[in-house]
Amino acid sequence: VSVLCLGSAHGSPGVTTAATALAGVWPEGRRLLMVEADASGGMLAARLGLSDSPGLVSLAAAARRGWDGELVWRHAQTSGDVSVLVAPASADHVRGAVRDVAGPLAGWCGRQADVDVIVDCGRLASDPVAAPLIEAADVVCVLTRPTVDQLRPAAARLETLAAAGVEGGLLLVGDSPYGPAEVRESMGVEVAGVVAWDPVAAEVMAGGSGQDVRRSLLVRSVATLVAGFTTDLMDAPGEAESQRLVGGVG
Ligand SMILES: Nc1ncnc2c1ncn2[C@@H]1O[C@H](COP(=O)(O)OP(=O)(O)O)[C@@H](O)[C@H]1O
Ligand SMILES: [Mg+2]
Repeated sequence: VSVLCLGSAHGSPGVTTAATALAGVWPEGRRLLMVEADASGGMLAARLGLSDSPGLVSLAAAARRGWDGELVWRHAQTSGDVSVLVAPASADHVRGAVRDVAGPLAGWCGRQADVDVIVDCGRLASDPVAAPLIEAADVVCVLTRPTVDQLRPAAARLETLAAAGVEGGLLLVGDSPYGPAEVRESMGVEVAGVVAWDPVAAEVMAGGSGQDVRRSLLVRSVATLVAGFTTDLMDAPGEAESQRLVGGVG
């Protein structure tokens, strides 16, 4: 199994957008589950035109009565070819649900041979509720716009993660005013890549109407990232250009 965790440290750099875009270009032939483990409340249901339930909260309730191998799939909804475990928009129940489910879900992930999991962890607190998923992840990225405001908290978050034994990298959203080489050099942190700055495509990915985004800068940039991630994540890298959800989004 391959688990990819995305989160932020400050502001709203574009975690959910990147997660959605990544899902859209994930190699075909791999079963993909998106988990919205964002304790501040969910966005994916609204953005993808799904309902709030089933999802993380119903999974957490059901899990109290016991966990079986199919449980996750029974609480996931589908968008295109992707299964999505959504968090309800109201933050009230999400935090507890993420906390209850993160451990068993991480264990479940470890038992799946052919499932890849993209986790939207939202804002990473110093003690994230999704910790078991983050610890189980193959790749952990802290997203940040490359501005001083966001870079410093993001780098600090990487340090906290490292102290907890989790090696993560920054994923820049845009490359201005600082590009990846500059960030790497001046801050001494790992930069996993760049998600292109592309407000028009981001708007479409957020459920807005608009043109086909498959050829957009944003989607092409995450396709490049997927190629890199999947080399890390999988024995046999898939075809990164294969697209399944993008365009069907919204
Ligand atoms: N790559 C991007 N380029 C331009 N705008 C973006 C990009 N990613 C996200 N945005 C915009 O930034 C805002 C926050 O995005 P979102 O993905 O919800 O962030 P987060 O999940 O980090 O809170 C949205 O208005 C979205 O359209
Ligand atoms: Mg988000």
